[in-house]
Amino acid sequence: MPKIVVEKSGPLKGSVRISGAKNAVLPIMAAALLAEEKCIIEDVPDLKDVNVMSAVLRSLGSEVTKLENGSLEIYTPEIKTAEAPYELITKMRASFFVMGPLLARLKNAKIPLPGGCAIGARPVDLHLKGFKSLGVEINIEHGYIEGKADKLVGNTIYLDFPSVGATENIMMAATLAEGVTIIENAAEEPEITDLANFLNKLGANIKGAGTDTIKITGVERLGGTRHQVIPDRIETGTYMVAAAITGGDITIENVVPNHIKPVIAKLRECGVDIEEMDDALRVRSTGELKAVDVTTLPYPGFPTDLQSQFMGLMTVANGSSVVNETVFENRFMHVSELTRMGAKIRIEGHSAVVEGIKRLEGAKVSATDLRAGATLILAGLVAEGKTEIHNIYHIDRGYVEIESKLTSLGARIYREED
Ligand code: UD1
Repeated sequence: MPKIVVEKSGPLKGSVRISGAKNAVLPIMAAALLAEEKCIIEDVPDLKDVNVMSAVLRSLGSEVTKLENGSLEIYTPEIKTAEAPYELITKMRASFFVMGPLLARLKNAKIPLPGGCAIGARPVDLHLKGFKSLGVEINIEHGYIEGKADKLVGNTIYLDFPSVGATENIMMAATLAEGVTIIENAAEEPEITDLANFLNKLGANIKGAGTDTIKITGVERLGGTRHQVIPDRIETGTYMVAAAITGGDITIENVVPNHIKPVIAKLRECGVDIEEMDDALRVRSTGELKAVDVTTLPYPGFPTDLQSQFMGLMTVANGSSVVNETVFENRFMHVSELTRMGAKIRIEGHSAVVEGIKRLEGAKVSATDLRAGATLILAGLVAEGKTEIHNIYHIDRGYVEIESKLTSLGARIYREED
């Protein structure tokens, strides 16, 4: 297993292009199972998670072809089985997204309980609540969730928490249901709007995506389409922090500035200069950062997927800050790794109190999850000496060519065999 080595680097400078969004492409790939004709998805990020989803789709009967220029063609004239393979589903939580499309098209699905990043229990009860409301009978036995129905019938579903995955899975299941489905307290993330846009291009009738009430009127069948996925706002935020922490000057291209508003606001509070363009951001920092508090919330609040990167930034800010995590109950694994690098962080329940210090020290650390891995890279850029990051499998799940993108900005980062 290789490791990533990061050496203290100067201010990062230059421009970097953001890839298509991982969290948009994964549900869109699953949604392609609903289509009886060919779907071409453009700007698909070259990531491990995308490969896993491709394998899941193939196992169900889809033809998945990588085209030149980063597009993916998915064609599923017929779904061959309702059972998703254990080895793949347990690797990645997002593979549970196939349950909604399987129920919609086959009225039957058998899926192992999902796996993925170890950031809390992450149940799927809200997904199942939605499926049950549509008339699906759910049984959980021997580690599998099985859903069966004679037909799916639209209903009103109130989500106790605006879960991203549950909103997406229920939306997909409802596209071919009889009548109208309304999802109340739906998640409002841009990736949900992207999925709804894709489904509508296939012929679905979805209104209100991006608000807390989504109305889906069932249709008979879905055809094919061509769709470009939105840029990855979490990758964007990560490069924004890279500019901020190193005192750099980076132009980040292929960005929807509206999707990243809370991060722009928080970094400005820290003293970072951000210029917003139509589809780019220029982020400039002196490296002198003011400590500010942050609380993660569902969109349009501050994204939990940028909590650890922001905390990494706060470890070297002037003063103390409080980072509150409200979306996941156990998302502070990066704290012990940052502590190895000399960071001063104290956990108090769902909050971390960070006391900014002058400099971090390079150390051997472990990427405990995807975003934690990115955080350790960011910390490594300003730490004295070398930082060795192990367990980098997680980083490859979600960041396209992170070493070469950072190297092009002047970072000293490379991969080494252990
Ligand atoms: C998605 C993102 C992930 C991001 C998260 C929150 C993808 C592939 N992943 O994950 O990167 O961190 O949104 O923005 O898009 N919950 C329940 N019951 C459920 C479902 C969720 O209790 O049935 C809880 C979870 O345990 C968690 C919270 O709701 O505490 C948020 O989860 P959710 O919004 O569903 O996140 P994911 O869709 O898993």
